[in-house]
Amino acid sequence: MSLGYGRRLMSIPGPSVIPERVLNAMHRPSPNIYAGELVDLTATLYPDLKTVAQTKGQVAIYIANGHGAWEAAMTNTFSRGDKVLVLATGRFAIGWGEWGQKIGIEPTVIDFGPSSPANPAKLQEALQNDTAHKYKAILVAQTDTASSVQNDIPALRAAIDASGHPALFYVDCIASLGCEKFMMDDWGVDLMVAGCQKGLMTPPGLSFVYANDRALEARKTADLVTSYWDFIPRMNADVFYQKFGGTAPTHHLYGLREALDILVHEEGVENAWARHARLAKAIWAAVDNWGSDGGDIKANVPDQKDRSCAVTCIKTTNGNATRIREWCEKTAGVTLGIGLGMAEHGSLEWHDYFRIGHMGHLNIPMVMGTLGSIDSALKALDIPHGTGALEAASSVISQS
Ligand SMILES: Cc1ncc(COP(=O)(O)O)c(C=O)c1O
Repeated sequence: MSLGYGRRLMSIPGPSVIPERVLNAMHRPSPNIYAGELVDLTATLYPDLKTVAQTKGQVAIYIANGHGAWEAAMTNTFSRGDKVLVLATGRFAIGWGEWGQKIGIEPTVIDFGPSSPANPAKLQEALQNDTAHKYKAILVAQTDTASSVQNDIPALRAAIDASGHPALFYVDCIASLGCEKFMMDDWGVDLMVAGCQKGLMTPPGLSFVYANDRALEARKTADLVTSYWDFIPRMNADVFYQKFGGTAPTHHLYGLREALDILVHEEGVENAWARHARLAKAIWAAVDNWGSDGGDIKANVPDQKDRSCAVTCIKTTNGNATRIREWCEKTAGVTLGIGLGMAEHGSLEWHDYFRIGHMGHLNIPMVMGTLGSIDSALKALDIPHGTGALEAASSVISQS
């Protein structure tokens, strides 16, 4: 019997749940794209996007997913043959480096494994060994959505500074913007990429490249700049049409406006970080509890301080992750995220990972509903687990 015929819950790590208000804001006829309401509304997005990233730098909006932002970041600031240092903590920074290879970027990967953050001392050492300063930039994901590792961006910046190396510092916040604390200017990040479909609660289709003065300076000598991806007109053009390299993503802009109203003007960015941190701790309390007493389920990242506040990757054995996911999908009405990049697709090990997305439009009943569904799956499937997980989660929540 399925008990899943109520409102379905998406607990995947993006696209995240879209608020009804955002959906409603998009439900309208096509607007004029040359003057009037849409043009005025779009002008208000830039300052709010900067507030979310805590920067006074520039931001360009693309009609693209996160891969588009990756490519835009590289084509605007690199030349063919440039070398970059990739800090791999799962799948996504590696993916960014690989994405650059087809346009002539040469990535060198330092792999910190699938369960640990990038080690600042190792970064400092690698930069000090690069006496010829061949690395143009360092690429890292704040949250690696595959492993759910959270990298310590200020500590990595401190390591770059200590090494005296001039490399630019690029951070992928596609999974973390609006969820994890991030302060682009104070933390010395030169370029940041983000997408609208996770912490920004808008349907996939917009992505963002943020650049400070150093990144804008790099744009002046980059030989990979192309007409479509060039971020300069997107940041500065007076003609609305040129801001998007063509027709504007009309309905997405209305949706994003509504989402930023919620995030920036109603909740407040710092409160959103605190909400994500508290709800993440509740999820970890449950997961760590399931893993106690010989339980066959544990967080992929052992140390809570290294875990993302936006997504939690969970490891089981014997293919149990897939069984839990399928039970939750069919019987509970909850969709959990598949394992990604942690093992060969389809292998037994691949079936041992699943992920809970906890980003964006998320509150206590959503978290407790997801945890309660997983708890029921563990019981229904006879998977060994510690008891008291829901109690542990609600205790964390009640401390707020
Ligand atoms: C950290 C991170 N970087 C990059 C991407 C790629 O973004 P997209 O799938 O929107 O192209 C994702 C997608 O999940 C991500 O989580």
